[in-house]
Amino acid sequence: MIPKKSGTRYEIFPFFRSFFGKQLPVVSSYLCPMLVGILHGPNLQLLGVREPEIYGSKTLLDLEKEVKQYFPQHDFLFFQSNHEGELIDFLHDHRTNVQAWVVNPGGLAHSSVALADALRMMNGPAIEVHLSNVFQRESFRHTLITASSCIGCISGLGFAGYHFAIQMLEKKLHE
Ligand code: DQA
Repeated sequence: MIPKKSGTRYEIFPFFRSFFGKQLPVVSSYLCPMLVGILHGPNLQLLGVREPEIYGSKTLLDLEKEVKQYFPQHDFLFFQSNHEGELIDFLHDHRTNVQAWVVNPGGLAHSSVALADALRMMNGPAIEVHLSNVFQRESFRHTLITASSCIGCISGLGFAGYHFAIQMLEKKLHE
């Protein structure tokens, strides 16, 4: 079987998965489980409906399913809120038990000093992810206040950004 040039890794794996009759981690080589918090800010519960030309047609639930499927060895805590205080409370509640964070603060990325402060208090590393390439958009989206509390930031890669972030967090926790 010669995989197509694009997405090679993804296309050869369904064969192995069906061969072994179970889910195999598609993109991850670290088997040591970690608890990952995946935090979404305002308006992101409307993914799939909201400006699909920018954010695509897949929903937040699709993202959750995809992440769990690609990284079956890890546990995930997903949380979305339209309220800054609720996001901060969630971070506080899981400050010590969550080992790594993937955070898409939505519009709060450009404005919330309080969320940035909360992220800085987490025990585990955080990576900020934006589905769209904020640097190709309005200039007010070019300032990323919360990203300053993260070890890195991925912008413009859609759902793949979350996969890369989790892979990087695995690597970071193994250092
Ligand atoms: C976003 C980018 C933000 O500028 C915007 O306010 C969002 C979504 C993204 O994932 O591309 O809500 O975080």
